[in-house]
Amino acid sequence: MEKIIVTLGERSYPITIAAGLFNDQTPFWPLTCGDSAMLVTNDLIAPLYLDAVRDKLMKSGVKIDQVILPDGEQYKSLTVLDQVFSALLAQSHSRDTTIIALGGGVIGDLAGFAAASYQRGVRFIQVPTTLLSQVDSSVGGKTAVNHPLGKNMIGAFYQPASVVIDLDCLNTLPRREFSSGLAEIIKYAIILDAAFFKWLETHLEALLALEPRALAYCIRRCCELKANVVAIDERDQGQRALLNLGHTYGHAIETYMGYGNWLHGEAVAAGMMMAVHAVRRLGQFRNADVERIKALLLRAGLPVSGPEEMAPEAYLPHMMRDKKVISGRLRLVLPVVIGKAEVCTNVANDMVVASIKDCQA
Ligand code: NAD
Ligand code: GLY
Repeated sequence: MEKIIVTLGERSYPITIAAGLFNDQTPFWPLTCGDSAMLVTNDLIAPLYLDAVRDKLMKSGVKIDQVILPDGEQYKSLTVLDQVFSALLAQSHSRDTTIIALGGGVIGDLAGFAAASYQRGVRFIQVPTTLLSQVDSSVGGKTAVNHPLGKNMIGAFYQPASVVIDLDCLNTLPRREFSSGLAEIIKYAIILDAAFFKWLETHLEALLALEPRALAYCIRRCCELKANVVAIDERDQGQRALLNLGHTYGHAIETYMGYGNWLHGEAVAAGMMMAVHAVRRLGQFRNADVERIKALLLRAGLPVSGPEEMAPEAYLPHMMRDKKVISGRLRLVLPVVIGKAEVCTNVANDMVVASIKDCQA
């Protein structure tokens, strides 16, 4: 079992990583709630894991209620959020309750925002079940729902009290969803850790084969990298923006295509290639590194260009609603070399369009 601490003063919290935590035979369960909790999950995950998690909590004497939401990115909405509030109120949950998110990034982001706002904030625990949520969305306290005009536009910074990762969940995850998680993993390597990029080039097949040691190392490394960034810049005023490599283009794809049609990681993968081409055009990135990134994304089963039906000119209106835009100026995260990135304010609109076209060539 691995434990990583996200260091945020009195709001510090542990990330526990192990295999078999949901298993009946595992005596240890690193979750402590108060007297009551609301489990938030969806109708795909509930048949797989809800009973196991609920049973473990009930054995420790916690009163457990549950709300089962429809599955899908299109349900990460204000309307569905209201179902969580209704369930909490109908079951008389008070301010000392705990909201537990059991699921991927959609459930984690939505349940986290419910926890941030129900009675002005209740305790929150993340139990991420997808690769993407285990390496990224469950850590760091960004919570949100989507708006039809933009991804993650309504939300709050709200840290969980604990993150509990059972690696065995990945055995039931569809391959396309696994690849989506690999996009965020490759992102960490490009922006922060050249040695980790090399490790991924060597161990990608082991990850795709769900080899336990490779998975455990990879998930731990990503959680460490993210925990370090969040500890320095919790509220996204500086270094944390780097975690958005590919996301300005990617969020435009997700919104334009309709939530759920392109998976988050797929859109980020295409967006990272666009960012790489933008920086290559600026003459600041080696062609050999462009090819290394493209090859790794392709091996991971990810797209390296945007949707055919989305014209390059269609990106900009969506990109201008990005949360990094300041005073009407686009700010893009661009890699400098593999292992280092920075935020750039001087990328002209025609350069953005050209970088999208480069990926289609
Ligand atoms: P998701 O939550 O939609 O999960 C993907 C699919 O896998 C869903 O159908 C889900 O029901 C299913 N699933 C989940 N666990 C499973 C399991 N163990 N076995 C089988 N199926 C399982 O998507 P995601 O990729 O986990 O998360 C994407 C979301 O995360 C996006 O909304 C994105 O904006 C958000 N995100 C947030 C942050 C953050 O910092 N808060 C970071 C990255 C991404
Ligand atoms: N996924 C971006 C962040 O957590 O800041």
